[in-house]
Amino acid sequence: MESVARLFLFLCFALFLLSPCRSDPDPLQDFCVANLQTSDVTVDGFPCKQTSSVVSDDFFSTALSKAGNTDNIFSSNVTSADVRSFPGLNTLGLSMNRVDFAPGGLNPPHSHPRATELGLVLHGQLLVGFISTSNVFYSKIVNEGENFVIPRGLVHFQYNMGKEKALAITTFNSQLPGVVVAPLTLFGSKPAIPSEVLAKAFQVDQQVVNQIKSKFGN
Ligand code: GLV
Ligand code: MN
Repeated sequence: MESVARLFLFLCFALFLLSPCRSDPDPLQDFCVANLQTSDVTVDGFPCKQTSSVVSDDFFSTALSKAGNTDNIFSSNVTSADVRSFPGLNTLGLSMNRVDFAPGGLNPPHSHPRATELGLVLHGQLLVGFISTSNVFYSKIVNEGENFVIPRGLVHFQYNMGKEKALAITTFNSQLPGVVVAPLTLFGSKPAIPSEVLAKAFQVDQQVVNQIKSKFGN
């Protein structure tokens, strides 16, 4: 009986270690402010600045202080405070976005390969949805002051159905969550995916595919 319990504990521990919920690795030191200039050192992440040249400003950022320009085809804008714009985040395993929406704005279906997303609607009202790997669609209208969570890697969107602007803050358990924007990935890649492939995938004529591609620079 005792060995069954031990096996169970071992399995739990192994599952914990292998859990897909784990994100960036834990830091091995207080901080490692990214040296974004170094190009000849390749590591997973960014190399650290010399500690002697680290300054207070490395741990503060104004990246999210201004509203993004929503004058684009989606009428929305994502501004990121990730390791690229805020080098102090390097090795700390987290980052943040602000997402601005004009009325009718859509943050189009996308996914983050390296992070779970936790969102807070600061202004307005958003329809937020994600699709599980079983193709179940989970969604809700999220009001000011309310949260939503998007499990790592799942396709999701936010849509401002209202007549006012909206603003959401999103946080990630990765310094660089990555983003795969479905319409851009499928129809705007360089070089382009052959239209034949997309026509078969979406069960439409190539003409339709070419029309969509033209909206995304292809
Ligand atoms: C919202 O989905 C975001 O990625 O910031
Ligand atoms: Mn997202």
